Amino acid sequence: MTNPLNLLSLDDLRRRTSMKWRHFAPDVLPLWVAEMDVPLAEPIVRAVGQALAIGDTGYPEGTAYAEAFTAFAGERWGWRFDVQASSNIPDVMGGIAEILKLVTEPGAVVVVNSPVYTPFYRYVEHMGRRVIEAPLGAGQRIDPETLERAFAAAAASRRGAAFLLCNPHNPTGTVHSREELAVVAGLAEHHGVRVLADEIHAPIVHCESAHVPYLSLAGTERAFAMLSASKGWNLAGLKAALVVAGADAAGDLERLPQEVRSGPSHVGLIAHVAALRDGRAWLDRLLSGLDQNRRLLGELLADQLPGAVYSPPAGTYLAWIDCRALGLGEDPAAVFLERGRVALSSGPRFGTGGAGHVRLNLATSPEILADAVARMASAIR
Ligand SMILES: Cc1ncc(COP(=O)(O)O)c(C=O)c1O
Repeated sequence: MTNPLNLLSLDDLRRRTSMKWRHFAPDVLPLWVAEMDVPLAEPIVRAVGQALAIGDTGYPEGTAYAEAFTAFAGERWGWRFDVQASSNIPDVMGGIAEILKLVTEPGAVVVVNSPVYTPFYRYVEHMGRRVIEAPLGAGQRIDPETLERAFAAAAASRRGAAFLLCNPHNPTGTVHSREELAVVAGLAEHHGVRVLADEIHAPIVHCESAHVPYLSLAGTERAFAMLSASKGWNLAGLKAALVVAGADAAGDLERLPQEVRSGPSHVGLIAHVAALRDGRAWLDRLLSGLDQNRRLLGELLADQLPGAVYSPPAGTYLAWIDCRALGLGEDPAAVFLERGRVALSSGPRFGTGGAGHVRLNLATSPEILADAVARMASAIR
């Protein structure tokens, strides 16, 4: 069984023109933004190729994406959703912005669990809402007391409070348990906080953990979930995503304007549907390659950067590394970039809890991963 992470050389990858490969100078090894160093899964290439061959490049129609996703979710997570209570959206972050517009007023407070995906801050601020952080607690897990305080403060704003749940969590790779999510649901109901669960990383959960879809829990009827095949199959450039409403949020979703619903790329939808329907064996091969990489990273760090603290992520292909003992200051990624010519994501950009950390993208070959750690080590010599 071929590991998709082993198929592309550095020369192949440097031909790419996407952000990961073009943002930094050519002597920098990029392991930052969430793009994967894999060729596309064969069923996706076939489906998109067929569409191009017959000029099927118009506007999207229908519910094929939601149908493919609910079947995938049923098989993988034992959860199916009502296709009628979902909508296509162009991408997850755009969908979050639109839902915030529907369920909160300008000036509302939006709670996030820092450290968290940087655009959570940027999009909320762009929408004229205000972020309150509820930092993750011990073991990078949601701390109910901290969350409750943040929910109470958000509800006090009286402009409609919301919570952006990241499930699984970027950048720490935390996979929230059913019990933890039940606590979140209880607190959200109690304080009248609308939950938007970003589940874009859900297809990438490793064998010892299990993804629990937020909407599968009782008490989440007023919540929304954002789903996409874009992380699992590396389709960010083929834009498409889905928003699913809980039973009591379907009325809100009906107010989502047609211009948002018809925003995804038709070819993007074809690619995502092919991934979910016919790309499951490929996803399993990817997961097994990522599993090897998350262990390999532990060995490489122990050997060459013993001061770095790292636990293999339970979900996502992102590794969150605590570099505080290395004496590289607030932003070790800046030092690794300047001295080691390796690009990682800068910890402080993920908010409170990010200082002294870096995020490393594991979705690459073992050779590139080894080169990256060697470059990191060279930066501290
Ligand atoms: C948690 C999270 N949400 C959303 C996104 C971006 O999704 P989209 O491109 O669909 O907006 C990412 C990308 O890495 C992510 O990590």
